[in-house]
Amino acid sequence: MTTLLDIRTLRKQFGGLTAVNEVSFTVAEGETVALLGPNGSGKTTVLNMISGALAPTSGRITLSGQSIGGLAPNRIAHKGVARTFQLVRILPSLTVAENVVAALAFRPNHLWGRAAEERAEELLAEVGLGGRGGEHANDLTYIDQKRMELARALAAEPRLLLLDEWLSGLNPTELRTGIDLITALSRRGMTVLLVEHIMEAVRALCSRAVVMNVGTKIADGPTADVLADPAVISAYLGEGHA
Ligand SMILES: Nc1ncnc2c1ncn2[C@@H]1O[C@H](COP(=O)(O)OP(=O)(O)OP(=O)(O)O)[C@@H](O)[C@H]1O
Ligand SMILES: [Mg+2]
Repeated sequence: MTTLLDIRTLRKQFGGLTAVNEVSFTVAEGETVALLGPNGSGKTTVLNMISGALAPTSGRITLSGQSIGGLAPNRIAHKGVARTFQLVRILPSLTVAENVVAALAFRPNHLWGRAAEERAEELLAEVGLGGRGGEHANDLTYIDQKRMELARALAAEPRLLLLDEWLSGLNPTELRTGIDLITALSRRGMTVLLVEHIMEAVRALCSRAVVMNVGTKIADGPTADVLADPAVISAYLGEGHA
């Protein structure tokens, strides 16, 4: 397996708080890996450092052997990393299609005009929003906003997709749809690192899981083994997550 993402002794300090403490793990090309842990364990902070929203205090992040740690978010995006946010981020005053067209305009080989509109329609169809490009983004339901945010992330044609609780807040039917969507992306070869609290989704999607607790990595291995690990169970129980 070829390593796509390699994180070595990554650390993030916020004043006196060590949010991420010497965390190391890798993600191979084509893998879907879960990044788990109780609330406040540092998962979003790790994604923020991979995507460039935050600079690491120390440690290394490489994508296909190229160092990306500390680069500006747009440079990291151009190298093939895209993400969705724990709190959905969309352009609410634009239409659904315009939201995706805007993302296409910012990728390395920009698409404009007719070509962008056509590509936007393909991406919307891929996430289950086919034919709905003319709707206003702020009229969408929560799952449809999430779908649109995913289409915006896919517009960049990423090599690595970071999903921060993309499946949270969905009802059981929507959750099934969401899991199927990520499965389809994975089958097409997308590499995914996903932060998720819904274990049903983690079991369905991720062959491997990395677990953090209070900034430190406490487990890394096949999902079933990791979820049965007493240290992992007690970390979750300690936070009131059963
Ligand atoms: N920009 C920031 N400035 C200061 N402290 C921060 C900042 N971002 C995160 N933290 C702190 O770092 C720790 C880890 O936060 P983080 O958001 O990474 O956790 P998380 O694992 O994503 O949690 P959750 O499951 O609740 O989303 C928390 O104590 C949080 O309060
Ligand atoms: Mg988080």
